[in-house]
Amino acid sequence: MRERIIAGNWKMNKTVPEALELIETIKYELSRDDYKIVVCPPFTALYSVGGAVSGTPIALGAQNVFWEDRGAFTGEISPVMLADLGVEFVIVGHSERRRYFGETDEMINRKVRAVLAHKMRPILCVGETLEQREAGKTIDVVTHQLREALKGVSESEAKRLVIAYEPVWAIGTGRTATPLQAQAAHAFIREELNLMFGKEVGDQIPILYGGSVKPDNVADLTGMPDVDGALVGGASLKAESFIGIIENAQ
Ligand code: PGA
Repeated sequence: MRERIIAGNWKMNKTVPEALELIETIKYELSRDDYKIVVCPPFTALYSVGGAVSGTPIALGAQNVFWEDRGAFTGEISPVMLADLGVEFVIVGHSERRRYFGETDEMINRKVRAVLAHKMRPILCVGETLEQREAGKTIDVVTHQLREALKGVSESEAKRLVIAYEPVWAIGTGRTATPLQAQAAHAFIREELNLMFGKEVGDQIPILYGGSVKPDNVADLTGMPDVDGALVGGASLKAESFIGIIENAQ
C-alpha cells in the first residue's frame, strides 16, 4: 500500500501565538491515522509548532530551504537548521517560489538533493499554468520539471520523495482540477517516476494533488487511484476546514 499524506502549507501566515492556537486544535481533533498529516508553518513558527507536535503523529514540514549547509548567505535557512528543528518534510519548487522568487529548475534540483542529503523528505511541486494547459503543453511542462528537479537523485533516495501536482491555475483561485484531470496528470507523473526509478520504487512514491482542495472536493479527488493525498493551502489555515479535509479524504 502506498503511503497517503495530507499536508497543510500555511504559506506566509500565522504569528507564533496564532500558529500554536491552530496546531493545538488540529492535534486535539485529529481522529484518523491512515493518512500521514504534515503541517508546514512559516520558518518563524517552526520551533514552536515542532514542540507542539512532538510525540504526536503529526509531522513537521518547512516551506522552503537553501541548499548550502552554512555560510555567508544572508537571509537563507539551511537544511542543517531545519533538520535540527525536527523538520521531516520540505516543500520544494512551489509555483509561488518559481513565479515570485525566480526559482529555476536548477535551483530546485539543488534544494531537492540538499533535503535528501540531510535525511528529510522533499515535497516536490510541479504543475502547469493555464496558458500552458490551453496550449496543450501540460505533459511537456511537467515532464521537464520532474526530470530537471530529480537529476542525480538515486533510487534509494527516491523512496523518500513526495510529489505534489499543483496546476498553477488552481492554486488559491477556487478553481479545482476535476478528479479526472488530476488522475490523468498523476498517472502520467507515476509513469515518469517509474521510468526514472524503476516500477518498484515509482509505484510507492506518493503523489499529492494541490490547488483549492476543500472539505467538499477532497473525497472525489482522493478517490482517484493515483491521487495519494493533498497539499492544502488556504483551507489549512483554519482547523475546521483542515480537519474537514482530513475526515472527508478517501
Ligand atoms: P490552495 O494552495 O489550497 O490555497 O489553492 C495550495 C498550494 O499552494 O499548495
